[in-house]
Amino acid sequence: MALSEVLFLPDNKKITVRPGTTLLDAGRKARVNIRTRCGAKAACLMCKVQVTDASGLAPMNVNERLKLGSQADEGYRLACQARVIGQVQVTVPEDPLKAAIRAQLARQAEDDDLF
Ligand code: FES
Repeated sequence: MALSEVLFLPDNKKITVRPGTTLLDAGRKARVNIRTRCGAKAACLMCKVQVTDASGLAPMNVNERLKLGSQADEGYRLACQARVIGQVQVTVPEDPLKAAIRAQLARQAEDDDLF
């Protein structure tokens, strides 16, 4: 059985997995932090990731498509549901809390520059 390969960005971590592995499990194996809360039941939507070319993933199941809504057409997938079948490149969004802190620090740096 041929192995599949996942590249996680922005960490730039590549991992080889058995076909049928979920992106969430591949991420854990690669030590990439993908947030979860629902125990991989397609309920919390915290494991959302973005995929530019989904040809390396199995098609969405009905539950995943329903949960993602219009984001399904924008390249988003639920890492706990999407199964790897080939080569795929996945972008893991920044943790919203980290993003908010970074934005706040940038605003403070701008304010400091004004004085
Ligand atoms: S882990 Fe909750 S939706 Fe994927």
